[in-house]
Amino acid sequence: MVTLILLLAIGALARLKSSFRFVTPAEVGASYQTLYFTEKLDHINGDPGIINIKVLLKQGHPNSPLFVYVGGEAPIEVFYTATGILVGYYGPKYNATIAFIEHRYYGESIPNTYSYKYLSTDQALWDFADIVSQLKPQNNTPVVAFGGSYAGMLSAFFRIKYPHLVDGAIASSAPLLMYLDTDGSSFSHIASMDYFLVDRNCMGNVFDGFNILDNFIDRPLQYPALELIFKTCNSIDEMSDVMALEDFLTDAFQTMAQFNYPYPYNIAGTLPAFPVNVSCSIMSQHTQTENMWTTLQGLALIADIFYNSTGQTTCFDTYYDSSMQADPWTYQTCTELLMPYGQYGLPNDMFPKRPWSFTQFSQQCMQTFGVSPRLDWEPVNYGMTANVNSTLRYASNIVFSQGVMDPWSGGCIQDEINANTLVIKISKAAHCFDLKSPSPRDPQSLILARQQEEILINQWIGSKLAMLDR
Ligand SMILES: *[C@@H]1O[C@H](CO)[C@@H](O)[C@H](O)[C@H]1NC(C)=O
Ligand SMILES: *[C@@H]1O[C@H](CO)[C@@H](O)[C@H](O)[C@H]1NC(C)=O
Ligand SMILES: *[C@@H]1O[C@H](CO)[C@@H](O)[C@H](O)[C@H]1NC(C)=O
Ligand SMILES: *[C@@H]1O[C@H](CO)[C@@H](O)[C@H](O)[C@H]1NC(C)=O
Repeated sequence: MVTLILLLAIGALARLKSSFRFVTPAEVGASYQTLYFTEKLDHINGDPGIINIKVLLKQGHPNSPLFVYVGGEAPIEVFYTATGILVGYYGPKYNATIAFIEHRYYGESIPNTYSYKYLSTDQALWDFADIVSQLKPQNNTPVVAFGGSYAGMLSAFFRIKYPHLVDGAIASSAPLLMYLDTDGSSFSHIASMDYFLVDRNCMGNVFDGFNILDNFIDRPLQYPALELIFKTCNSIDEMSDVMALEDFLTDAFQTMAQFNYPYPYNIAGTLPAFPVNVSCSIMSQHTQTENMWTTLQGLALIADIFYNSTGQTTCFDTYYDSSMQADPWTYQTCTELLMPYGQYGLPNDMFPKRPWSFTQFSQQCMQTFGVSPRLDWEPVNYGMTANVNSTLRYASNIVFSQGVMDPWSGGCIQDEINANTLVIKISKAAHCFDLKSPSPRDPQSLILARQQEEILINQWIGSKLAMLDR
């Protein structure tokens, strides 16, 4: 039983992370050039082989800065679309060249080998560094790195490791310290608090819904009713199917908390503006009568909003393979980027219990990839420790920004570091909010945070820009 729960929890996180909608270049608008840079497959030990790294480039003025988005764990077009601030604001404002560089092993930048041996942040950063050197029109061209989430971690690493190439970095919603969350309770806690803060009863209402499902686990006679209410494509035959349904719903609630923006947003379909608020009003309407079928109907309606925004989905595929996914992102979490994730129910969170175990996760990493998580990797390489204010004291020109309502914020740096390395906490803000295109619906906290970031960017690049003939 315990084993089953843990496997599902890991499956849930894998699905959470892969809920990106892959956009095609046509949808983004062919407003960029696509280039491919040939890099060594192995920058570190010199093993033979090459890898082609995809770059989306918007050429600016040669005497203007170069703004680089360091790609994360998805095709680079995903980041191009999700980072409106670069193409929509900073690019035109500075006549800057904008480059979105894909991360090796994602999108089209995949090697001719099945091995994950060359998938590491060191190798990826070297790709970025080499490509940035080639893209700079002049020696003095100032460079600022941008990234959000895992890419935010990379943008901070990039500045720390290559200060001669990168004048500053915006590291948005970067869960650099998530590996220190030993029971993985922060993500589900913060996501649940988002619902609580919208409506004091909401967290309890959602918890009640999951509790009803939990009670159904031992009542197989009711399984056909669940199939009907939740319109599952697959039949619900055993307890693991009920748990998979719970995880399917959990993903919807958590992803809505992560992307709780004040305007509609495309992620696995189109989310409405403030999806957390929308879900809370549905739950409040469906829990008043305290009829369990009505409560479940509320959960089904929320699934419908999240998974069926097109109205084209005839049934929900809630079944999935609960074993560890052998994909590149999971490999990275099994090596350098441990991301503990667990659910504990009230009072920590409103989700079904899925406790986290490091031992269990490590065993799965060993079985799936033959590797183990390296807890010493981030602190030794980059000084990402519980005492960042001391271990990062020589860092400079980095903004660690975070939305206070972002479930990932539990893994973000909280302490002030030094005058040139700032932590900006944006109230009422979800995941990577500062990287989006400015909108009339932005809260004041976000407007101020963006202004602060722009002042810093000007400080970082000012002296070099002055040397260029403008
Ligand atoms: C951007 O380019 C335009 C046209 O070349 C020029 O008029 C403008 O001053 C430039 N702006 C900056 C910030 O360099
Ligand atoms: C959603 O809830 C938050 C927190 O209570 C509130 O600030 C925001 O205005 C709400 N939005 C809508 C559209 O109701
Ligand atoms: C998706 O939405 C359409 C239109 O509202 C509805 O007819 C259909 O039943 C929904 N699908 C599911 C699985 O809920
Ligand atoms: C770092 O933070 C801790 C606790 O927040 C504080 O006691 C300590 O003085 C700080 N150290 C520096 C170098 O600022």
